[in-house]
Amino acid sequence: MKRKIMGDFGGIIHGGDYNPDQWLDRPEILEEDLQLMKKADVNCVSLGIFAWSRLEPEEGRYDFAWLEKIIQRLYENGIYTILATPTGAMPQWLTGKYEEVLQVNEYGVRNYPGKRHNYCPSSPVMREKTWQIDTRLAQQFGSHPGVIGWHISNEIGGNGGDGACHCEHCQNAFREWLREKYGSLDRLNAAWWTSFWSHTYTDWNQIRSASARGEDLVHGQKLDWKRFVDSRQLDFCKEEIRAVRSHSTLPVTANMMEFFYTFDYFKWAEELDIISWDSYPDWHSGADELRTASRTAAAHSLMRSLKKKTFLLMESTPSVVNWWQINRLKRPGMHELSSLQAIACGADSVQYFQWRKSRGSSEKYHGAVVDHRNGADTRVFREVARLGERLEQIAPKVIGTCNRPRVAMVFDWENWWAVTDACAVDNDLDYREVFLDFFRPLWEMGVDVDMVDMEGELDTYSVVIAPLNYMYKAGYDEKVRSFVRQGGCYITTCWSGEVDESDLTYTGAHPLEDVLGIRTEEIDVPAGYCENSVRYLDVDYRITGLCGLVHAKGAKVIAEYQNDFYKGYPALTKNVYGAGEAYYIASINEGSFLKALYGEILKEKGLGCGLQVRLTEGVTVNERSGETDDSGQTRKIWFLQNFNRGPASVELLACYENVETGEKMTGKIELPPFACVVLTADE
Ligand code: GLA
Ligand code: ZN
Repeated sequence: MKRKIMGDFGGIIHGGDYNPDQWLDRPEILEEDLQLMKKADVNCVSLGIFAWSRLEPEEGRYDFAWLEKIIQRLYENGIYTILATPTGAMPQWLTGKYEEVLQVNEYGVRNYPGKRHNYCPSSPVMREKTWQIDTRLAQQFGSHPGVIGWHISNEIGGNGGDGACHCEHCQNAFREWLREKYGSLDRLNAAWWTSFWSHTYTDWNQIRSASARGEDLVHGQKLDWKRFVDSRQLDFCKEEIRAVRSHSTLPVTANMMEFFYTFDYFKWAEELDIISWDSYPDWHSGADELRTASRTAAAHSLMRSLKKKTFLLMESTPSVVNWWQINRLKRPGMHELSSLQAIACGADSVQYFQWRKSRGSSEKYHGAVVDHRNGADTRVFREVARLGERLEQIAPKVIGTCNRPRVAMVFDWENWWAVTDACAVDNDLDYREVFLDFFRPLWEMGVDVDMVDMEGELDTYSVVIAPLNYMYKAGYDEKVRSFVRQGGCYITTCWSGEVDESDLTYTGAHPLEDVLGIRTEEIDVPAGYCENSVRYLDVDYRITGLCGLVHAKGAKVIAEYQNDFYKGYPALTKNVYGAGEAYYIASINEGSFLKALYGEILKEKGLGCGLQVRLTEGVTVNERSGETDDSGQTRKIWFLQNFNRGPASVELLACYENVETGEKMTGKIELPPFACVVLTADE
């Protein structure tokens, strides 16, 4: 039999974080775990995530026997292991003996031992101890047939922290990083515009991390500090990857946290073989589920887009979390729907945190597959087991397929950092929120979307949507220019092309003035002073955010502002450039505006939902397809998902086959609340 590895598992992975190190003195529990896993169709677990103190109880004394026994026993029962490096939490002997492993906060105070995700990524001791345990684990387990991949640490940078350490090791590393980047202080001073407020640096040692205690208003410095924090943590992660690779060829992942502000995951993706992430949506928290559903779809899409490949849903909760203010039970059906939503968006797994609820400590009331009592006889367990069955059933159709969108949205982390610190017209401006608002109408229309950063390829897409591209990375304008020239459709907004990579404003024309056919001037936030609107195709749409004042310079004005001194100014323009066209949305408007605009553009391009269906509110579709075969055929599957709390009816305009039941489906169909139907073409 072919060896199973992560990424080539031959089925959908179903399982999750298994922390048996809590129960080593209770063999009957471990035995029950195994029986229950089989009952729930669990085929894989993640082991060892926080097990450092069990694996190395004292400095230099390693004990892997218990882990070996568990991995082997699981394997004999058809359950595979994704093995973690244990650096997500540090043992007491380590933090007690070597204080340098602990992070220093921005006020210069070193943390006491405790919690997790809190090591200094520059500490030589931390690096050494990590290397020792990781290489030993790799040596011992790298060729165990039951182990299918490596899980580096856990949610690196997470748990409330921002991954930043301000200790002297890190300060020095920052200076080194800057020296490498700028070569000279003159260049650094110019990039940071330090001549303002007499901030010119005359010695490298004067430079410190950006912090509330010191300097955090020199924008270029702040931006570079964020880049450094990101690259420092990534550097630590890379060392862990090197450690496991020193004895193992298994693929490597690190569980991510979707739109996690601190890390530019596009950079991280280059170092990892497989993307995985932990999804904890706030279901049942609003008037309906649609906002949460669309945001979760965006997060899955981002994760898929990092490598343009299927990914793993590494963690999710089968029932509740315990860290929202109010932690509601997932209503019946929501677990299946939200898990299938992940698959719909490109996941090849559904995994949980955690398998069995802890008895004590901070997560004892966090949902798990197995509760404190009642074994398999719980609603949650039954739902998990039922999902396990469904995953097995759909796996043959799903594996080997992925979403392949023609529409992309530009999401760029460095731009996010720059927008956040811009100190400009709206200091509450939230790039991610605006981005998600631009995503939602596409989700409502059942259109899959990829995300690219400013360094990504645009040419494989027909339509590229780029909201709030405030900072243009070097070469970005040229890339957009060539994309449009060759026939692409580019949609951008106000607060774009303002600054370069050093966060220095452009002083000449907008870098894409020729492509957009406009000249930009001022920027305003009308709400609260004079309600304003945009009239597009005879409908008035409320302006809800920024509002750019621009002048057409060759572009056609499609919509205008309706009020205030800029009444009649362009609110939406279209410019034909080469074989393509560029739209400029001058203001941030209510969501229905975008739906109307996208609708027009996608219709014109012959794009849209791949399933022939008349959708109703709260029902959406994702499409996964296989490679096109020699005869030009492409296998496609669609996930028709009802996020409404009540039933919904939609109309299928062609005949499809239900993958799970074999039933032919066409015309009006009724979807129960939280249902997901998996369809394929009727052959
Ligand atoms: C994260 C962590 C897990 C656990 C869950 C709880 O995803 O990786 O260890 O704490 O949160 O939701
Ligand atoms: Zn440090």
